[in-house]
Amino acid sequence: MADTDLLFLALFIFLPIFLLMFLKLIVRPRPVKIPIKSRHVFVTGGSRGIGLALACQVATEGARVTILARNLDQLEEAKTSIRLSTGIDVAIVSVDVCDFVAVKEAVESAGPIDVLICNQGVYASCELENQDIKEIKGTIDVNLIGSFNLVKAALPGMKNRSDRKPVSIAFMSSQAGQVGIYGYAAYSAKIKRRPPLTRIIATSSGAMQVEEVVKKALNGIKSGSFFVPCNFEGFMLSIGTAGPAPQTSYLMAFIEVISVGVIRIVGLCFQWTWYGSIEKWHAQQKLLD
Ligand SMILES: NC(=O)c1ccc[n+]([C@@H]2O[C@H](COP(=O)([O-])OP(=O)(O)OC[C@H]3O[C@@H](n4cnc5c(N)ncnc54)[C@H](OP(=O)(O)O)[C@@H]3O)[C@@H](O)[C@H]2O)c1
Repeated sequence: MADTDLLFLALFIFLPIFLLMFLKLIVRPRPVKIPIKSRHVFVTGGSRGIGLALACQVATEGARVTILARNLDQLEEAKTSIRLSTGIDVAIVSVDVCDFVAVKEAVESAGPIDVLICNQGVYASCELENQDIKEIKGTIDVNLIGSFNLVKAALPGMKNRSDRKPVSIAFMSSQAGQVGIYGYAAYSAKIKRRPPLTRIIATSSGAMQVEEVVKKALNGIKSGSFFVPCNFEGFMLSIGTAGPAPQTSYLMAFIEVISVGVIRIVGLCFQWTWYGSIEKWHAQQKLLD
């Protein structure tokens, strides 16, 4: 009995305490807060959707805001809508992120950036086999190379700022393409074009409101988080894929360490239900043929 008590103590009390102390010692980087008020926040893809909602929110919180996109009319409309809802004027820049020279000029003339939010993004809602190779390359150019262009152009100014307050670069992306975001026309148009099987699988994660995404994204940026998941599936994905990713909180690192195995099981359960949906869909198609 004494041996079992000792084993219990070791497993459930001493081991977790030791692990917590160890993680407290090693997790890096140190926690950091990114202030937004009175700072220059540069939001790409800020003319509509999530980018526009983000720009509006940071303007409300007292930031100096620049929004970038290609279509000048839509940028003007976005500027007017931000002024109407916040009373604040934002700067607008009409540039294609794929053009490095134009991006560099735009970033330099906007002045040193404190928070860069690379939110521009395109995706084709159709099967790979039905996509033109030009469209695939275009997606990589806008989403990936465009972000490299922005970061490369912004870094010198961000590093040479006279105030030593922490700065941040954030990338808006989709975790496994699982979550859709409600609340504006572009999303509705995109889901209408979704292949039926994608639609079935995507419904397992539901959708979120733009305001909710903006709130979570901004809180994550301000708290200097490396991953900023917006919902429970995203939270699980960030733990399951953390690997050597930076972590500022030793308590969060503790949760990652102890739950990674369980999350793999949950992930496999997701796969199991998705495979069920795929098999069912193919069986239905066979009956229809
Ligand atoms: N909506 C969702 O369900 C969802 C889910 C997960 C992740 N995301 C990600 O969140 C981000 C924003 O999504 P969203 O749905 O709000 O997008 P959206 O409504 O389609 O807006 C995209 C923005 O990017 C700009 N843009 C596109 N190509 C550009 C280019 N080459 N150069 C400069 N700007 C460009 C667009 O303006 P112009 O066309 O005028 O250039 C627009 O302002 C994207 O990165 C997307 O992948 C979205």
